[in-house]
Amino acid sequence: MRLIESKTEMWQACSASSRPLGLVPTMGSLHPGHMALVERARTECATVAATIFVNPTQFGPNEDLDSYPRTLERDLSMLEQAGVDLVFTPSSAEIYPRGFNTWVDVLGSAQGIEGLYRPGHFRGVATVVAKLLNIARPDRAYFGQKDGNQTAVIRQLARDLDMMTEIVVIPTVREPSGLAYSSRNAYLDPYQRAAADVIYRALAHASTLYASGQRHAATITDEVRNMINSEPLVNGIDYVSITDAESMNEVEWVERAAMLAVAVHIGGTRLIDNIVLGQE
Ligand code: PAJ
Repeated sequence: MRLIESKTEMWQACSASSRPLGLVPTMGSLHPGHMALVERARTECATVAATIFVNPTQFGPNEDLDSYPRTLERDLSMLEQAGVDLVFTPSSAEIYPRGFNTWVDVLGSAQGIEGLYRPGHFRGVATVVAKLLNIARPDRAYFGQKDGNQTAVIRQLARDLDMMTEIVVIPTVREPSGLAYSSRNAYLDPYQRAAADVIYRALAHASTLYASGQRHAATITDEVRNMINSEPLVNGIDYVSITDAESMNEVEWVERAAMLAVAVHIGGTRLIDNIVLGQE
């Protein structure tokens, strides 16, 4: 496994690699969700490259950039064991050198519900993903459904900017309790960790309501909100929302593939999760 810090070297290594080349962008602190993306890439691509970069521009001023978990040594050994060929770990100055002044603003899906709660977040995500795709020029890039609004933004970005990369989205990987793996789960103490299971219980309940014929979005979201609020360690809910899976517009009636997404605060930790109604 080759470790690369310079973008010129990354560009050269990717250009010279056997095709197809698969890219797995991450912010590190790797868990089984990330590894599912790597494994999928391994089955489909001759060369697999991963990136580890805690992208400062996608964190808001009061968010957790400084405390975001960083476990580089462990991450590298996980990637090596999984058969990754190239790992790109640039510094912030390598990605955002002095004078950097171009931003990628995806409209529409970036104003979806998660974008409204994290102003500027998707601008940072779209900018760094555009840069990583330009540096690596992969045939395929792998993202997780766990960040459902993010995948909609990235699909739009790749389509609109004629990126010659196929965007592949992998289903959410969950702990046995149903809690979605997330780097931010590391912030939870054991009580909060147990309380966080309410999120998937509520999503699974919504899926049962949908299966029994309920199509009224507000009826489903009210039940989900009540279930989540019944857990005493929940500090607040940013949203429980049902949107069209592509446009990220909220829907009143669930008629075609729709994403039920939640953002929940447990202690000081903000967790997001979603399911696609009609598919899970
Ligand atoms: P990060 O949170 O590290 O996630 C990297 C990738 O792993 C994303 O595509 C995310 O959706 C996916 N992922 C995270 N948890 C998952 C789970 N439980 N199951 C399946 N996939 C999961 O998302 C980012 O980093 C950044 O925004 C990034 C795209 C790297 C740009 O900075």
